[in-house]
Amino acid sequence: MKKVVLSFLLLASVVTSVHAQPIIGKTVDPFHYNEQKTETFGKVAVVSAHPLASMIGAAIMKKGGNAFDAAIATQLALAVVYPGAGNIGGGGFLLGRKQNGDLIALDYREKAPAKSSRDMYLDKNGNAQTNLSQNGHLAAGVPGTISGLFATLPYAKLPFKELIQPAIDLAEYGFVITEREAMNLNNTKDAFLKYNTQSIAFIKNTSWKAGDTLVQKELAETLKRIRDNGAKGFYEGKTAELIVAEMQRGNGVITKEDLKNYTTRSRKVLSFNYRGYTIISFPPPSSGGILLAQMLKMVEKYPLTQYGFQSVKGVQLMIEAERRAYADRAEHMGDPDYWKVPVKTLMSDGYLAKRMKDYDPSKATPSSTVKAGNAKESEETTHISIMDAQGNMVSITTTLNGSYGSHTVVGGAGFLLNNEMDDFSIKPGVPNMYGAVGGEANAIAPGKRMLSSMTPSLVLKNNKPFLVVGTPGGTTIPTSVFQTIVNIIDYGMTPEDAVNKPKFHHQWLPDEVYVEKTFDAATKAGLEKMGYTMKERAAIGRVEVIKVGNNQLQAAADKRGDDSAAGW
Ligand code: GLY
Repeated sequence: MKKVVLSFLLLASVVTSVHAQPIIGKTVDPFHYNEQKTETFGKVAVVSAHPLASMIGAAIMKKGGNAFDAAIATQLALAVVYPGAGNIGGGGFLLGRKQNGDLIALDYREKAPAKSSRDMYLDKNGNAQTNLSQNGHLAAGVPGTISGLFATLPYAKLPFKELIQPAIDLAEYGFVITEREAMNLNNTKDAFLKYNTQSIAFIKNTSWKAGDTLVQKELAETLKRIRDNGAKGFYEGKTAELIVAEMQRGNGVITKEDLKNYTTRSRKVLSFNYRGYTIISFPPPSSGGILLAQMLKMVEKYPLTQYGFQSVKGVQLMIEAERRAYADRAEHMGDPDYWKVPVKTLMSDGYLAKRMKDYDPSKATPSSTVKAGNAKESEETTHISIMDAQGNMVSITTTLNGSYGSHTVVGGAGFLLNNEMDDFSIKPGVPNMYGAVGGEANAIAPGKRMLSSMTPSLVLKNNKPFLVVGTPGGTTIPTSVFQTIVNIIDYGMTPEDAVNKPKFHHQWLPDEVYVEKTFDAATKAGLEKMGYTMKERAAIGRVEVIKVGNNQLQAAADKRGDDSAAGW
């Protein structure tokens, strides 16, 4: 390993002569790094799914950047060091609050290509072909991430080339991979072989192991085109040509026009009150903000603190709120440019009180009796929480949808394409890869954004920064954010506990409660007695939290992954 470091430092010194004050080789060593799960910082903090990405975000702020600079640099670094979900071939949402209180919601969600159509994943007998919406070229929506980064740039301070250079260096000279990454790459090898015809950096003859160096030369070249030509370095020219050529190799439908026409949308944030705190979250095309508002407001009039953390009474109430909110998701939510989402009604006190009218604290309400209210008027995603010394808050959730997205790498360009088309309702009532069902509101249409569950959120206390929070996890995202906020506000937990305590999830259909393996056995048994079907499942969410208090930033990175905090 020593030899590798030495030769890397030699390379890094070449980089030094080209770029003033390089981060890679100076403050961030891609060959030696550790996870930092919980830490208190004085001025700035970044929490993300990978130690190197968090460290790069913190180092960018040391160089004079703010939270928005860090947001750009951290996302780009994640696209290199966390290929399972970090991306330039996917999309995301950025929610920001500037130090002066201005709120920003950037929607760079993927879009359905112009050649897509409502029934494109149905066979001639009308059966849904989820293999096509979940894997390979046809599963990809038009990527939004690079457009989103350039839409973030006006809020940042440093030149873009300084923000992208760490990612270029990581791709060009490599970094050592973690045990988890090695395992994930090995587990995905068959899918990579199946959905690629060109050679790709993620496949090698032997198995990956912790400490191996992953070099991504083609990705480095793509990032350089973006550095030199801006968004056009992705949406036009050589990168666009490579994407279209890849589409042609695998019957995909994304065209040059789709790429050229992609734009990020500015959205109006959702904001509501919960027990005196102001919660700010993301509006449609995410369902996340509305679900979070519905669930918090449905439980608000009950004394959760008195019930006790994960008591039968407390969990049962929260499950019933989750059930009702997700029933509304299936019926009412979709891209607001194509479907009138009754946001105001869905979040109103009167409506939510009606939704809880049939709530019975002694037993489960079967989902078959819970329909959407009358409101007429995947599991790899990744989250970054950032705070800077000026008080700017940034919460970003970004995604390829499933782990390693469509499994298709753009030949010659070195990045994975998303499989976000599966987030549409490909046929009414047919569950997507997260088991979520939908209908007309989220049907496929050319140019439409598929409904998301991503819930990047901010919490203010007395109108001042209090929490930056979010998580990956497909449809479990809103429930994980819901439970993390309740853990902190109602149960007074530290960010570390709030993030790491076991979680549960109900999404209306299927009518089952999912719990992590460490969920309290007595509570589980108590709920079973009340008629709930309880199912153990793998980890739920990977929450990243920054809590502000006493002039300090308490950062907590979820123990469920390689997640890590950095700051100073
Ligand atoms: N692909 C996961 C989500 O957007 O909800």
